[in-house]
Amino acid sequence: MRIAVYPGSFDPFTNGHLDILNRAAKIFDYIIVAVLVHPAKQCLFSPEQRVGMINEVLKESEHVRAIHFNGLLVDFCRQVHACAVIRGLRAVSDYEYELQLSSINKQLAPELETVFLMSAMSYSFLSSSIVKEVARYGGDVTSMVPPQVEAEMKRHFGNRQREDKR
Ligand code: PNS
Repeated sequence: MRIAVYPGSFDPFTNGHLDILNRAAKIFDYIIVAVLVHPAKQCLFSPEQRVGMINEVLKESEHVRAIHFNGLLVDFCRQVHACAVIRGLRAVSDYEYELQLSSINKQLAPELETVFLMSAMSYSFLSSSIVKEVARYGGDVTSMVPPQVEAEMKRHFGNRQREDKR
């Protein structure tokens, strides 16, 4: 069984992430979406919320599950017996950071491969940060995130707007 890990912050999970995951599912037997618990970074959603949303989106897929992880990615990959890390590439601007990440991971765990998948052109400029910005100011994110994530974002920003008005 070929297990791959698809790591990231996923704050939140977007249609671009889903596109990469669907492509990876054609290559690997089982994929673990590994949600990083950032020790320092302030995320919009808690690790539990991010994992919950992703598993809700993927509930029909038997071969994909999300869980959160701490520490080094390579340690997590070894723990779950993954043979590869999946990363999506959107534009040339992603390349330098991804090269750094995959080189460090290769140094730390030579047995682990990083597999880069190109996202669809329509998602080239989509990012979690853009989605958060649009949603924060009440913009429509329907085409950017799965419906389950959209609902969660509406709940989050709706509550915040109500709190701000008080
Ligand atoms: O969605 P992101 O923020 O681009 O994902 C980055 C991620 C989670 C893949 C990366 O930060 C990571 O693997 N963090 C875990 C710590 C680690 O292993 N660092 C060493 C490689 S630099």
